[in-house]
Amino acid sequence: MNKLYIEGNKKLNGNVLISGSKNAALPILFMTILTKEKIEISNIPKLTDISIAIKILRSLGIKIVNKNKTLYIDPSVINISCPSYNLTNKIRASIWMLSPLLTRFGKAKIFFPGGCKIGCRPINLHLKGLIELGAKIVENENYIIASIQKPLQGKYIYMEKVSVGATITIMSAAILARGLTIIDNAAKEPEIIDVAKFLNTLGANITGSGSNKIYIKGVLKLHGGFHKIIPDRIETGTFLIAAAISQGLITCYNTEPKHLTNVLKKLSETGAKIQTGKDWIKLDMKEKKPKSVNISTSPYPGFPTDMQSQFTLLNSISSGKSVIIENIFENRFSYVTELIKMGAKIEIKNNYIICKGIPKLYAKNLFSTDLRGSATLILAGCIAKGITVVNNIHHFKRGYESFLKKLNKLGANIQYINNNFSIF
Ligand code: EPZ
Repeated sequence: MNKLYIEGNKKLNGNVLISGSKNAALPILFMTILTKEKIEISNIPKLTDISIAIKILRSLGIKIVNKNKTLYIDPSVINISCPSYNLTNKIRASIWMLSPLLTRFGKAKIFFPGGCKIGCRPINLHLKGLIELGAKIVENENYIIASIQKPLQGKYIYMEKVSVGATITIMSAAILARGLTIIDNAAKEPEIIDVAKFLNTLGANITGSGSNKIYIKGVLKLHGGFHKIIPDRIETGTFLIAAAISQGLITCYNTEPKHLTNVLKKLSETGAKIQTGKDWIKLDMKEKKPKSVNISTSPYPGFPTDMQSQFTLLNSISSGKSVIIENIFENRFSYVTELIKMGAKIEIKNNYIICKGIPKLYAKNLFSTDLRGSATLILAGCIAKGITVVNNIHHFKRGYESFLKKLNKLGANIQYINNNFSIF
């Protein structure tokens, strides 16, 4: 069943337990290729992207046992097969197996990665970094072949553009290279810090992660270890928006407030009352009408592009006019036409939108096109007047663990329906 039936006019209140971070767990899973010793990773979110990554690793011969959100991984035996196109092409994260396979076997062949259609999503910075460390790269229209004649050599690498993915690729290639690698203008996301922490647990020598300069001193080999994935900051932000748009009160537990400084600042500007503790964030918008806020996305610690669509929804039912500028991806407004169908007053310019808040959205038959946009449309259905149907719901399952169960526990009423159901 690929459709949802969502009752509107809901106020969302209560407590929600945040799951492990998709964008930390995915690279960390592929980094296990770098060692032959056993690894235990806990707080793994139950998501389709994660199960695809596990399928890819198992197709390489890696043994993985999945018990209560903990993975017991034995990467001692890996065959150098090229994982299938239809798995590799499903997720963006599969690019992160290139450098560990290259490092472990001296060569690697992988199909091009997939991922949300929010832009053309090139991998030139990943490949450029590997070449600078001494790899030979051959590309054709379907796959990449990387090879090395001698061990990779540490280098100073300046990233012409801040890239989460390429920072991780280069960091993972430098771990077992000869000498010191410096990644300058590196991405600073919390997920990068978590990947570096995991690799250091296995015996790597990485310092500076979370700053714009990461230092990696090559080591001879890695051992095994245990790691717990950090909380998902974007899932947290999405549930805080759920309270803000429905004049509700929601507390997110098992989260990390310091990963959301910029998002919490913007939420306070809307008039929400925010309280935080060591591992929880409470947002209270009871009986309050939110004020709209201007947003301009940028690399961490700037405003996260993965929270852009959720704030557009908030602005569409807030008082006042607002501008949302998307500076990271070139095609991340596809959900806006669906909000306009619901009555939202939004003008799409090239990389920005102008939003004029209205009192109410109206239920419609909606089509989601990417992960964060699909979560946004589901939230829109929870507050719209009437019954909303959201199609193509496989998108949200990629990045939100038990999303419907968590929302229904907060007061939503969302059901799966079969494809021939229609009320419009
Ligand atoms: C990661 O994508 C996340 N995905 C994205 O989350 C997130 O939005 C993004 O980082 C930015 O924070 C995962 O971690 C699986 P980038 P990634 O490399 O690594 C350009 C979600 O919803 N670029 O930081 O693909 C690129 O086109 C997803 O959870 C190049 O030009 O993002 C973009 O404009 C969506 N060449 C910018 O850099 C390259 O080789 C930032 O991309 C690589 C990237």
